[in-house]
Amino acid sequence: MKSVEELIEVKRDGGKHTEQELEHIVNAFVSGEMADYQMSAWLMAAFINGLDDDETVWLTKAMAESGRTVDLSSVPGTKVDKHSTGGVGDKTTLVLAPLVASCGVPVAKMSGRGLGHTGGTLDKLESIPGFRVTLDTDAFAKQVRDVGIAVIAQSADVDPADKKMYALRDVTATVPSIPLIVGSIVSKKVAGCADAVLLDVKVGSGAFMKTEAEARRLAAELVRVGERLGRRFVAVLSDMDQPLGCAVGNAVEVREAIATLRGDGPEDLTELCIALGAKMLVLGGRAEDEREGRQLLLDSIASGRALETFRAWIAAQGGDARVAEDDSLLPLAPATREVTAARGGWIAGFDAEGVGRAAMALGAGRARKEDPIDPGAGIVLAVKAGDEVAAGDVIATLYAQDEARLEEGAARLVASVRIADEPVTPPPLFHEV
Ligand code: URA
Repeated sequence: MKSVEELIEVKRDGGKHTEQELEHIVNAFVSGEMADYQMSAWLMAAFINGLDDDETVWLTKAMAESGRTVDLSSVPGTKVDKHSTGGVGDKTTLVLAPLVASCGVPVAKMSGRGLGHTGGTLDKLESIPGFRVTLDTDAFAKQVRDVGIAVIAQSADVDPADKKMYALRDVTATVPSIPLIVGSIVSKKVAGCADAVLLDVKVGSGAFMKTEAEARRLAAELVRVGERLGRRFVAVLSDMDQPLGCAVGNAVEVREAIATLRGDGPEDLTELCIALGAKMLVLGGRAEDEREGRQLLLDSIASGRALETFRAWIAAQGGDARVAEDDSLLPLAPATREVTAARGGWIAGFDAEGVGRAAMALGAGRARKEDPIDPGAGIVLAVKAGDEVAAGDVIATLYAQDEARLEEGAARLVASVRIADEPVTPPPLFHEV
């Protein structure tokens, strides 16, 4: 076998790795034989020179096999997972997981934390008093069996390669590479042992993939590699040119998710959850087709079953389930400010990444992994793309611990909103399935 240095040379010079070489790179890195600086060099070589179809599959397989796999064989039925490539205000999992579980498809999901301008499901869930995101894999499987739903932090012994590689990619400007993103996402799903995976590939100013062509290429690669590793993968391309729904933060997003489960959510979030949920019910064998799936989901919301499943899930993970009825039990930062439109017109759109950065400035996100977050900080938008506004109309309410944070958050938010003189057609929610 080539030395680690020789393996870096292969990629530096644009060569093709063998399956054994990629296994060796991944295992040597996880064991510590390959140092962080060597992996950083290899990642940059892979970022610049790419990995071909076979290499991407081999890398993904080696990553998935780098640690323990989750055994969900004791859970009856087809386990369906959902993964979003990350966005701003993306609280889909908080709605979709209990909604789909309430219709009889078990949901076993491992989620991540927010980083940079994108939020993370775990941080949002932890804003519910008492909620625990760490369960060992046996307790995880048991909860899925007993309650039909569990959402936990990726455990340290599942796909350790991704954890270590992602931490380096994050600080070496090597995140937005299609083969590396595919390896990261698909390896986690394969190690997590879901039978089928629905991928929500975000496209637009708030996503890693800024153009539709890039997002389409990523989606096709995710499906190809997932299927080559024996899993059913379906991908949709959904819009991230404006935040999803109105809330951006942590507890503010939990409030919006609860409202959506009650049937009072924003239109775009509700429609995204119903459309994705219908596909998950079909993948899980619970609905014949998407029309039937949609009806089951709408019935579950109307009957209160969706919210009841949310309550059972929160309680099972130690959280205060009374938040479902009384959202004053969720934290809310004490200092608030309304941001108003400087002039009249139509909301042409948002720089969604800018809105995410405004939320970070308020304290809702973290710039570095070890940074604390303020669960009660965030933004609630009063307008969406296409809405007409008059000068002085409120466009958002901001929440933070102090005036200094409000000041920076407000400046960033104002810079992220585009107002046009002519009526504007809002962007489509879906670009492609
Ligand atoms: N999400 C992931 O899980 N991994 C990536 O590399 C990018 C987005």
